[in-house]
Amino acid sequence: MPTLNEIRSTFLSFFERNDHAVVESSPLVPRNDPTLMFTNSGMVQFKNLFTGIEQRSYSRAATSQKCVRAGGKHNDLDNVGYTARHHTFFEMLGNFSFGDYFKEQAIPYAWDLLTKEFGLDPDKLLVTIYHTDDEAANIWKKYAGLSDDRIIRIATDDNFWSMGATGPCGPCTEIFYDHGPEIWGGPPGSPEEDGDRFIEIWNLVFMQNERFEDGTQCDLEMQSIDTGMGLERIGALLQGKHDNYDTDLMRNLIEASANATSADPDGPGNVHHRVIADHLRSTSFLIADGVMPSNEGRGYVLRRIMRRAMRHAHLLGAKDPVMHRLVPALVAQMGQAFPELGRAQSLVEETLKLEETRFKQTLERGLRLLDEELGELPKDVALPGETAFKLYDTYGFPLDLTQDALREKGREVEVAGFDAAMAEQKAKARAAWSGSGEAADAGVWFDIADAHGATDFLGYDTETAEGQITAVVQEAGEVGSAKAGAQVQIVLNQTPFYAEAGGQVGDSGTLRTASGAARITDTRKVAGVFIHFAEVTEGEIVRGEAAQLEVDHARRTAIRANHSATHLLHEALRNVLGDHVAQRGSLNAQDRLRFDFSHTKPLSPDEVSRVEEEVNAYIRQNAPVETRIMTPDEARDLGAQALFGEKYGDEVRVVSMGRDDTSGKGQDGHTYSIELCGGTHVRQTGDIGLFVMLGDAASSAGVRRIEALTGADAFRYLSGQDHRVGALALELKTQPDDVLSRVRGLLEERKALGNEIAQLRRELAMSGGAGQGGGPEARDVAGVAFLAQVLTGVSGKDLPALIDEHKSRLGSGVVLLIADTGGKAAVAAGVTEDLTGRVSAVDMVRAAVPALGGKGGGGRPDMAQGGGADVTGAEAAIKNVEKLIEGA
Ligand code: ALA
Repeated sequence: MPTLNEIRSTFLSFFERNDHAVVESSPLVPRNDPTLMFTNSGMVQFKNLFTGIEQRSYSRAATSQKCVRAGGKHNDLDNVGYTARHHTFFEMLGNFSFGDYFKEQAIPYAWDLLTKEFGLDPDKLLVTIYHTDDEAANIWKKYAGLSDDRIIRIATDDNFWSMGATGPCGPCTEIFYDHGPEIWGGPPGSPEEDGDRFIEIWNLVFMQNERFEDGTQCDLEMQSIDTGMGLERIGALLQGKHDNYDTDLMRNLIEASANATSADPDGPGNVHHRVIADHLRSTSFLIADGVMPSNEGRGYVLRRIMRRAMRHAHLLGAKDPVMHRLVPALVAQMGQAFPELGRAQSLVEETLKLEETRFKQTLERGLRLLDEELGELPKDVALPGETAFKLYDTYGFPLDLTQDALREKGREVEVAGFDAAMAEQKAKARAAWSGSGEAADAGVWFDIADAHGATDFLGYDTETAEGQITAVVQEAGEVGSAKAGAQVQIVLNQTPFYAEAGGQVGDSGTLRTASGAARITDTRKVAGVFIHFAEVTEGEIVRGEAAQLEVDHARRTAIRANHSATHLLHEALRNVLGDHVAQRGSLNAQDRLRFDFSHTKPLSPDEVSRVEEEVNAYIRQNAPVETRIMTPDEARDLGAQALFGEKYGDEVRVVSMGRDDTSGKGQDGHTYSIELCGGTHVRQTGDIGLFVMLGDAASSAGVRRIEALTGADAFRYLSGQDHRVGALALELKTQPDDVLSRVRGLLEERKALGNEIAQLRRELAMSGGAGQGGGPEARDVAGVAFLAQVLTGVSGKDLPALIDEHKSRLGSGVVLLIADTGGKAAVAAGVTEDLTGRVSAVDMVRAAVPALGGKGGGGRPDMAQGGGADVTGAEAAIKNVEKLIEGA
């Protein structure tokens, strides 16, 4: 009996032998299709090959594609566990032709594989075709020898396959297996078709049309083939089972679930094991492909599936988290075919464990509330929407989890009431926002959020992606389109552009559609809507169109480095300065980083170099940067730094980097930096390259601000400094290493010279000033020796020393000195001790300064000083003082 792994190999090698390229499964998050939530069939990665937009080196391919159907057009979530063939995750085996072979070859390939390779009995096979497709009917007749009654014509969409609302599509033929009359059911198209006797195993789509947003359809230039066969279904058939969950792979997972919960795999809890086995696959593969649980978009679908599984584990009586313990069994089953699963194993385990630990805290209380409410209601009344909303809002029960819980009891939820309660909550959030006066035009963003939901941010994993334009806004109003030259804001359903938050600047880059292009200059967000500020550069940007988005890679790389360096800086500051250091603000731009933190003093040069040393040591450690989602409490338990006073939602991103054996932080107790952060970061600390501080300054009371550079900017800065030192050394005729001592020597010399000059000036002044022979003479004024002199080349500072010298030379007398300090005047007066009773130096200065355009003056009776704005009044000032002495 072949295992599922063997069946997959047989399928792929059959087509490889028939000249098909065996292509790897694409990720579950489609990179090339903004209209799809998850990859839901094998053709998704080839979509653009069918329409001719893209070419590859092959025109025939075969894959085993990972698929998730848990939202959108193809949604199987509600049925999983309760039926034999529904899955949220499954593998689709497919062969493809891109303008190569068509029906005439696709049907024979399928027939040969099923009847020869897989050995199915031809008599048990029958097919459906689109009712007008005579060509397909003839090939079936001729090649497979099927009689007319085994070629059933179907007129509905069941035999016209399309991927979603738009995209390539075409008529199809489906191959069915007849399990025999002992099982109830009728052939496709009959009233009993839902029975289990006739099971569809393979769908061959003849891709020849394309569908557009407005509902119209056109013929494709090439005729192509897209086929899809569920591995689990064909596996069940080839293993002689009637239920996909009885195949070897699914059974092994069910047994792992039974072991982990100590509950009989085939007992009354069987449905729970089935749900767990299925959901284990979808959640693990989604996490491995970069989806993280959240409250929006894809992350919320993941969370819904996770929590649904967790409720079923709870119903099996599990006391501790179960899901993460099943991951090794899954990796053992599927890790070889999908190596990404093994690579992400620890991330998957950790994410499942955190989610389950956390959800368990409210699950029990929520279920109790649910039981109480149900107990009070008559049996035929649906659960009020408000209660379902309370379960959602307070206990974290996604609506479909509540519905799933009620399903077992044969009861329903009043969904309209749930929607109304949800709408009311949104309206409140909106009112709170407009009340805050944040932005006058915020209304338009709330309208967009209401109509289209929040933007899905893809930028943690990719810098290019396709998005669908949901709104074009010009001057605070929505417009259908905008032409070249217009300044607009563009909203898309998903984007790789980071919107400004947490100190990190918004991304810039380009947007391109079939009809035009725009330059994105900035990105911000309001109410979960990412707003791309754009200038339309070519053609026209039209709402509804798909757009290719590309973040300015070099700029984002620099921003990442600065943001990650900020985390290292924060930790280094705490280690060097102390635990009082807390973040007060930050800016992570492309050309620098800025970090404000609580600290009262400037950093000493030694502290600066210790911080720089430490940050650079962790950069060189080149440790991986890891991101996890958890509750704020869990994050704090790990030792994460959070912004004081900041309000966090019920889940946060936690960014960890660096290894420090003594930190005691993180799950292993060895993590260097752990912070709550929604920003984008480098993959390894080594990507930061280099870190250098430009200095620190006071930002506000008790807050210091550091500016710093990383990577190429840091290198350019340091190399610039180095060149300047080199130039200085050259100028000083010394070596760079000796520049400092050389400059110190020069400064010493300069100081000595300055002192010498001052001394010489004083001596010169005493001897009557430059150009005057001999010292100044005192005159007799009213019996007092009065010496007055106007000096140049000395400063006000020199005057007191000169006054003292004159006084001691005179023995008894009064002195008035006026220094010409570049047009202004400095005045000093001195009176020898014996005369202070007659004349006061203070009065002398006060008598002098008015003539010099000055006021006041002060000092002691024996020595006073003052000044004026205009030295030309010096003679008049001397006269005034003379008069003062005469009158004394
Ligand atoms: N794309 C086709 C399907 O999903 C083959 O059924």
